[in-house]
Parts: sequence; C-alpha cells; structure tokens
Amino acid sequence: MADGTYSILLVDTDDDFVDDAKALLEGNKVYSARNVTDAQRRLVEEGIDVAIVGPAFAHEAGVAEMALMFDVRPSLPVVLVTDALNTDVLKAALRSGFKDVIEAPLTLRKVEEAFGLLDQLARREDSIVQRKNKIGKVVTIMSPKGGAGKTMTTVNVALSLAQWGDPSRVTIIDADLQFGDVCISLQVDPKHTIVDAARDIDKLDEPLLESLLARHTSGMRVLSAPLEPSLADEVSTQVVVKTIGMLKRMFDYIVIDTAPFLDEPVLSILERSDVVLLVVDMDLPSVKNAKLALDTLRLIKFPFEKIKLVLNRVNSKARLDIDELERSLGLDVQAAISSDKLVPRAVNEGDPVVSLYPRSRVARDLRSVARLVVDGEIEEPTTEEDDRGRRWFR
Ligand SMILES: Nc1ncnc2c1ncn2[C@@H]1O[C@H](COP(=O)(O)OP(=O)(O)O)[C@@H](O)[C@H]1O
Ligand SMILES: [Mg+2]
Repeated sequence: MADGTYSILLVDTDDDFVDDAKALLEGNKVYSARNVTDAQRRLVEEGIDVAIVGPAFAHEAGVAEMALMFDVRPSLPVVLVTDALNTDVLKAALRSGFKDVIEAPLTLRKVEEAFGLLDQLARREDSIVQRKNKIGKVVTIMSPKGGAGKTMTTVNVALSLAQWGDPSRVTIIDADLQFGDVCISLQVDPKHTIVDAARDIDKLDEPLLESLLARHTSGMRVLSAPLEPSLADEVSTQVVVKTIGMLKRMFDYIVIDTAPFLDEPVLSILERSDVVLLVVDMDLPSVKNAKLALDTLRLIKFPFEKIKLVLNRVNSKARLDIDELERSLGLDVQAAISSDKLVPRAVNEGDPVVSLYPRSRVARDLRSVARLVVDGEIEEPTTEEDDRGRRWFR
C-alpha cells in the first residue's frame, strides 16, 4: 500500500459494472466476486484492503447479504455503489457497518473520499494521472457534417475525463463560433464568451481568461461560443490559437467542439491538437464528407496517427459496410457509439448522458471514446473481427 496501490475487491453480478470499475482502478490489485460466498473466499485468501459492492446489491436484502463479509473480516472497509441514492438503502448500509454509499458512476475521487484513503489510489501511467505541471492535452472533435454528433461527443467525453480525474482541470472550448450549443447542452449560463477574449486579446492573460470561463456543476469549465452568429466574425483565428495556448498551461484536458467545416480556424485548431476525434454518422453524406476532409488533411500532411475515427449511431437502421468504410477513409474505426433515444432526452434535460444515465449502453460507449483520449489505445469494438458487422447492425 505504501506505493499507493490497494487491493480492492469488487462484488457485483453485472460484468459491465465490474469491467468499468476494473478499467478505472487499473494500477491497483483488483479482485472480483459475484456473490457473498465468493467474496468471503477472496477475503480469506487475499490481502484485501477495501471492498466495493456494486448496484446489483443496492437494496435492503442485498445489503444484508453483503454484510456477511464482516463475519470473515469485521473491520473491512466496504462501500456500496447505487444507481440512485435512496434513504432506506443508505440507512440499511450504514447500520450494517458499510463505510459509505456512493452514486454511480464510480470515479477515483469518489472512491478515495468514501474510504477516506490517505494514499491516493494508484492511477494508470499517463492516463488518469493528475497531469498537473504538465502541458494540457488538446482533444478536438470534428466532423465535416452538421448533426453528426460532435457536440454530444464533446460534452460526454469532457465530462467522463472530468469524472475520472479532477473536474477543475478539464475545460471545453466551444469553437462552433456561429451555432455553438455546448452551454445549452450542459445547462451552463455563460456570463462571458470567447468574444470577450477577442475584445481583450492584447491584455489577455491567464487570470483574465480564467474569469471568462463558465463553470459546469461538475466543476469543469467551458469557454462559450459567441451568443449570436453575427459575433463570430469578431473571433479571429489568432484569438482561438492564443486561447488554446493559454488554456494548455491552465488545464490537463482542453476539449474543443468545432463547426462542421474545414476552414481556417478549424485547421488551426487541428494543428494544435494532440488527439482528433473524427465523428462519422452512419450515412453516406457523412462518410463522403469525412473522406473529402481526410483527403485535404492528407494533402497538408496532417499527422494521421492523431486522428481517431469514431462511428456514431452504429446500431441505427442505416446499413453501411464497415470494411468498405474503413477502406474508403483509409482509417480503422476505433470506437463506436450506439444510437439511443436517451441521448436527446439527456440533451433536453441539460445533463449529458454519461451523467444522467451512466449505466446505459451509450454512456459506456462514450466512456470508451474518452478512454481512447486518455491512453491513446486502440480499443477493438469486438473481440472477433468477423463479428463486427453483425454486432453493430443488429
Ligand atoms: N448516438 C446518438 N443517439 C441518439 N441521438 C443522437 C446521437 N448522437 C447525436 N444524437 C442527436 O443528434 C443531434 C445532433 O447531434 P449534435 O451532437 O448536436 O451534432 P453536431 O454537433 O455534430 O451538429 C442531437 O439532437 C443529438 O441529440
Ligand atoms: Mg454541434
């Protein structure tokens, strides 16, 4: 434990919960159990420091069953994770000796706080590590077609990064200068916008820029787009570039939403990006435009290794052949987001789907997109190559 790694026992019957938690806790020693008997066995055999019980047991009977872990280890710190806080379950858990009850989705910070861990949990190298004192990573979401899902991806990826690490180290720039809708999707009411940065560009410094950022309830920040399309002209490429440079010194992650073009401001943003998420919707015009955009980027010798191809609405009716799409774009698909009516519902509620419906399929998909940003890993959407088409186009 001295090196900051803990032995953690996860107890749940839901493999998805266990897999997500394992990914989050990677770097620690993580064991899993599906029921109290397995859990007791683990407690006897391994040097477990703490246990996390998942939402499958977040009801009174489940709590009573899980309390049997204390027969084996009376002083074991145990935390219960629920999908929605409920006073009866909370009372039952605390009465049975649980240390705390926390609401899904799990974040490292919530786990550390719940257990009162003195050492922070181990974090994956160069991933959810606090990037303090390092220069921030610029993540740009692009698609040369409106309605492809850029803004939806932006807010959900940013919020996932915020939930995994320190929310105050994550900022969004809404660089869709004419029709930016990041603030409305997050129910953030901006007092200032990027237009104020443009007007004060000569004296813009970090404290001034900080004062122009709006704050989301999670603690992450947003630099709003102009509130009217006519003001977009005031924001020159130079302003955008200077702003990105300053925010890189102030934040760990700068997530940028863009307009559906490949014009000068967007190209300048792309040049300054560490990761580019190219969102392609499952229709032919979207694929055609992505191809044209990639052709342009190839011409200007843009480093293609920065581009991660993300398919949106993969389970929608549109049948597109993935192999053909990959061949035509010259890129492999690295993540896929399912189509789900919870997405527009969440937008209308002003709370991104990863926060409002954290256990939905689409929220999981979006977290895998965010993971792509974090470790730059290529996540295969399925284990079997041949199964791809079938799984995505059910
Ligand atoms: N995976 C999805 N499932 C369901 N609806 C989606 C999905 N992705 C995007 N949408 C909806 O499509 C519309 C366009 O998405 P948006 O993110 O605003 O696109 P863009 O920013 O590229 O113009 C929004 O109403 C959004 O809620
Ligand atoms: Mg948009």
